[in-house]
Amino acid sequence: MSNPAISTKEEKPEEQKENQSSWKDFVYNPRTGEFMGRTASSWALIFLFYLVFYGFLAGMFSLTMWVMLQTLDEYTPKYRDRVSNPGLVIRPRLMDIVFNRTDPLKYGKYVQNLETFLKQYNDMDQEKNELCLAGQFFEQDDQAEKKVCQFKRSLLRQCSGLSDTNFGYAEGQPCVLVKMNRIIGLKPEGDPYINCTAKREAALQMQYFPSEGRFDKMYFPYYGKKAHEKYVQPLVAVKLLLTKEDYNTEINVECKVEGTNLRNNDDRDKFLGRVTFKVKVIE
Ligand SMILES: *[C@@H]1O[C@H](CO)[C@@H](O)[C@H](O)[C@H]1NC(C)=O
Ligand SMILES: *[C@@H]1O[C@H](CO)[C@@H](O)[C@H](O)[C@H]1NC(C)=O
Repeated sequence: MSNPAISTKEEKPEEQKENQSSWKDFVYNPRTGEFMGRTASSWALIFLFYLVFYGFLAGMFSLTMWVMLQTLDEYTPKYRDRVSNPGLVIRPRLMDIVFNRTDPLKYGKYVQNLETFLKQYNDMDQEKNELCLAGQFFEQDDQAEKKVCQFKRSLLRQCSGLSDTNFGYAEGQPCVLVKMNRIIGLKPEGDPYINCTAKREAALQMQYFPSEGRFDKMYFPYYGKKAHEKYVQPLVAVKLLLTKEDYNTEINVECKVEGTNLRNNDDRDKFLGRVTFKVKVIE
């Protein structure tokens, strides 16, 4: 069989040789001293150009960064979206509070979480802070060092972890702590308090500490991490008074901040002024 492809192949080797030598010449051409098609001085100029070019860009970047940073204030954030509506969060940090009340291994993590969180509220430490006037904002715009109003954990009574070191978890009536996220300069109108409800037909009895679940005005405004270093947020403890009939079923509880101008029913943000969590006590 005669194959036309073979006959053309016979002519190829020479072509390849030529190609190879021109490729070699391209990499380094001994006659002209060119490397990759350029002489050493041409390459040097190119490197110099890019060095100056990128050096200039880096300089511009640093300069604009520096100018921007000069406009920032260490004490308050420059951009804040509509000062004022804090989210609510709970402790223990988990949204599902499910435990076997007769098994300390099961509720231990919740108790541990609460105990760790409340350390900063120890009465001994809080006594170093100010005794502020209840029911009034503690404004200190003119002071450089902002003082802190004391919030002793003993205010949380049965949920303080002092009289009942299990925070009610062993008796099947667990405590949950609710706090508002810090917002610099926030001064809530009215008298904010926490109201929790079980999302079911029958009402669920709850106990609030401090009484009526109030956040006192004295803990506002907050002046920011730097100026108000030792600030502690006020807390509201909610003790869910579950009974035997409530055990072994999942209960959804929603807590909202009420009695104030703070928003608590935003459709898009379900943590704005409210928080929902699940509780299930197993026996
Ligand atoms: C709860 O814990 C106790 C003690 O560990 C155990 O006897 C019991 O079976 C547990 N209950 C359930 C529903 O797991
Ligand atoms: C708490 O919320 C429930 C349900 O929205 C409402 O019926 C109840 O009156 C509220 N309690 C207080 C003290 O505001």
